[in-house]
This record gives sequence, C-alpha cells and structure tokens, in this order.
Amino acid sequence: MVYNGNRMAVFISKSAQDTINFGREYAKTLSAGDVVLLNGSMGAGKTVFAKGVAQGLGIEDEILSPTYAYMNDYYGKLYHYDCYRLKNGAQAEALGLCDYFCAGGVCLVEWAENISDVLPTGCKIVTIEILADGKRRITYE
Ligand SMILES: Nc1ncnc2c1ncn2[C@@H]1O[C@H](COP(=O)(O)OP(=O)(O)O)[C@@H](O)[C@H]1O
Ligand SMILES: [Mg+2]
Repeated sequence: MVYNGNRMAVFISKSAQDTINFGREYAKTLSAGDVVLLNGSMGAGKTVFAKGVAQGLGIEDEILSPTYAYMNDYYGKLYHYDCYRLKNGAQAEALGLCDYFCAGGVCLVEWAENISDVLPTGCKIVTIEILADGKRRITYE
C-alpha cells in the first residue's frame, strides 16, 4: 500500500456499476498528466474503477485488464497499467513503461507498490477495500 499523506474522502460502492459510475465522476477531477495509483487487493475493483474513469474521459473502448501487456495505451489520453508481474522499478524502466508517466495523458496504475522506486512525485491515490455483500470502500483524494 502506498500513502502520500494527502486529505482523503470516502465513497461506499454497493455494486460494480456503482464503482463504474464513481470512476466516471472521479475522472472529472483529473487533469492531463495526473498519475493515479489504484491500491487494493486482487478482485477489489481496480479495473472496474478504471472502466469508469475511461468512460469519464470519453474513451469508448472496452477497458480490459492489462495484466499481460503491463500497460494499455488509449489514444495517449489514458495509460492503464497493471504492474502485478513486475518485480521492481528497474523492470518497468527497461520496458519503457516510465516514459508514459510524463506523456500528458492520465495514468492509472494497478499494483504500483511493485514499482514504487520509479513512481513520479505528486501521484494521486485511490484505495479500494472489499466490504461484505459486494460493497467496496473507496478512499480517494
Ligand atoms: N462494489 C463493487 N465494485 C467493484 N467491483 C465489484 C463490486 N462488487 C462486486 N464486484 C466485482 O469484483 C470484481 C472486481 O474485479 P477487478 O476490477 O478486475 O479487480 P482488480 O482489478 O482490483 O483485481 C468484478 O468481477 C466485479 O464485478
Ligand atoms: Mg485489475
């Protein structure tokens, strides 16, 4: 888990659709070049949230988990990372993944803790925790 000390707010999601809708609204708070770290365990809803953010940014493609590609590039507008299989920042550097942190699009990064040594400063954080009955606690800034 990465924490940057900023003031956080909480949203309770009651369904996957709720999380998508929240992501869509959250997208309105983002500026080009923002890097958002998506914290949360496997299955928490990080990719579901990313779908909402993509919709909010006006991207109509279906957002699929980039687990096998490490990062999916949506028109330079959104870069969606999944660093689950990366061991450290040096691997991300070697793959050229760090170049996109300052390419002007919004970056959403799943499993950012695996590459914490190469993350830029000033990242935003969204944390999704699994509650009972399909609910999620989304902590964001
Ligand atoms: N409130 C909720 N918010 C988000 N996802 C939910 C919620 N309730 C159930 N789910 C389900 O949890 C799963 C989350 O998957 P995913 O977004 O791929 O997780 P992650 O990317 O965090 O590993 C999906 O199958 C989704 O339908
Ligand atoms: Mg995912």
